Amino acid sequence: EEDPVTVLVTGAAGQIGYALVPMIARGEMLGTNQPVILHLLDIEPAAEALNAVKMELIDSAFPLLKGVVATTNVVEACTDVDIAIMVGGFPRKDGMERKDVMSKNVSIYKAQAAALEQHASSNCKVLLVANPANTNALILKEFAPSIPEDNITCLTRLDHNRALGQISERLNVHVNDVKNVIIWGNHSSTQYPDVNHATVSTDKGTKSVRELVNNDQWLNTEFVTTVQQRGAAIIKSRKSSSAFSAASSACDHIRDWVLGTPKGTWVSMGVYSDGSYGVQPGLIYSFPVTCEKGEWSIVQGLKIDEFSRAKMDATAEELIEEKALAYSCLN
Ligand code: NAI
Repeated sequence: EEDPVTVLVTGAAGQIGYALVPMIARGEMLGTNQPVILHLLDIEPAAEALNAVKMELIDSAFPLLKGVVATTNVVEACTDVDIAIMVGGFPRKDGMERKDVMSKNVSIYKAQAAALEQHASSNCKVLLVANPANTNALILKEFAPSIPEDNITCLTRLDHNRALGQISERLNVHVNDVKNVIIWGNHSSTQYPDVNHATVSTDKGTKSVRELVNNDQWLNTEFVTTVQQRGAAIIKSRKSSSAFSAASSACDHIRDWVLGTPKGTWVSMGVYSDGSYGVQPGLIYSFPVTCEKGEWSIVQGLKIDEFSRAKMDATAEELIEEKALAYSCLN
């Protein structure tokens, strides 16, 4: 049997955490042959709820689950962690200034970066889910300099999956036959869902999404805003933000990163920009990536039209502003 992999979930007593931990324990993140040890972190006010999550994990008798640590101690939570899913954070409440929310999250991610830096496995892979996801990931990267920068990513796979879902509904094809959409930029309403390279597998071979939809007006307006606003639409209907779709997408993100993307398929991940596609280096920006042997690489050479360029630049602009705001909170 394989050695267990230790997975940290922060904010584990929250909505996403509750959906995510059983998925991990069932093997949906690392495969059904891979034993796992779960480390669950939350804060003191949620300690009882966190303990209930641990009780339910024990009660589920998951064959792959080799241990559970539920704690409010950041050092204990981060010790020997191979994969860290950062879901805990400070939510924006009505009437709060952006700067105040940023300031709370900057201090959380600065502290958790230090704990991961000192106590996690040296090759620990990190996925930032908590918002503002890209900028929290950047702060974590800054304060955990010994973790390789390629190991620090943020979640835009939910947006990617939402884009696949919209195309599948529109064309009445199975979602699994739709491939290679791209989410560029920030996990926010400025993200750019791009279908210019997306395809659908049909009986008659592979067709482009633009050709099959045959309605650029819809693809350039309603499709884009539906994906951008999907999170808000869920909040409006559910009175609470997307939870199991976020959890499922987090599993997709880590599974593809660790086990590899299928041949001919790319996915979207928020990663540290190296300047590809003219995106300012030093931002965590969502790109199309392929993964092999636990490493991602940005898909190169895709043609970018003027419409896409403007949208990719606008979301980069927002990330540059967020970065400046985050840095202004550091002192
Ligand atoms: P939630 O409020 O139900 O859970 C958050 C949990 O984090 C709470 O249990 C809270 O006590 C805990 N927490 C707060 N500060 C913490 C700290 N310093 N250390 C550890 N835990 C801490 O929220 P939910 O719905 O689970 O969402 C979590 C985050 O994920 C939010 O920031 C949300 O905006 C974000 N999100 C991101 C998505 C993405 O695609 N990137 C999609 C959906 C949500």
